[in-house]
Amino acid sequence: MLFKNKKKEELRVDESLSHIAFIMDGNGRWAKARALPRRMGHRQGAIAFEKIVRECSKIGIKTVTVYAFSTENWKRPKEEIDAIMELLSNYIDRAEDEKGTRYVFLGDKSVLNEDLRIRMEKLERESVDREYTLNIAFNYGGRAELVTAFNELASLGKTSITENDISEHLYTRDSKDPDLIVRTANECRISNFLLWQCAYSEFYFTDVLWPDFDERELHKAVKSFYKRKRNFGGI
Ligand code: FPP
Repeated sequence: MLFKNKKKEELRVDESLSHIAFIMDGNGRWAKARALPRRMGHRQGAIAFEKIVRECSKIGIKTVTVYAFSTENWKRPKEEIDAIMELLSNYIDRAEDEKGTRYVFLGDKSVLNEDLRIRMEKLERESVDREYTLNIAFNYGGRAELVTAFNELASLGKTSITENDISEHLYTRDSKDPDLIVRTANECRISNFLLWQCAYSEFYFTDVLWPDFDERELHKAVKSFYKRKRNFGGI
């Protein structure tokens, strides 16, 4: 939904776009194009991530989910993994001062460095009552999330399972499903992200590499969303 005032165009979303999820792809290619090490691409990607999280809040989005580290990303070189862990650790330092955001980490924290895990859990606990939600998928995989949910339901002795039961046992149990999923860097696949939750999401793919994805690119994605007609299976 687009509102204009006299001086400049101001974008505001309504309740039909309350949750945007991002597959932040292209950090490596951004670095390669500049003959830089891959970690520099992630560093620039982290700057873009903070910018986009701020802008989403400004235009009225209620929930943002980002795919920061997948269960498959452990296959990358140690130096690159360490760089992403450090970016998360530095981000948590800054997030502790950000009083308007609720932080939720989606994924299996148990295998992460203990100090990092404790700080992630503390941030989640201390921000629980806030309105704007940032879900950071970290050591996250959509299939693993579903397996965890099914095992929890089995351990509760459930023999007949509803869709609601599954939704309530996912890492995203406190968020509604994403209305829009954005993937950058000219890749058109889901890569094990929000497999259950994306059932009726709209998708937006762009060639722009994640470190170059800025407010203007976000606005393009939002405007594209508002051109779509969502029927949710109806007519
Ligand atoms: C995919 O690009 C990106 C990642 C695997 C990491 C995403 C991480 C960030 C944006 C910064 C970290 C932010 C936090 C909060 C930890 P790629 O490396 O696969 O890019 P390529 O396909 O061009 O190689």
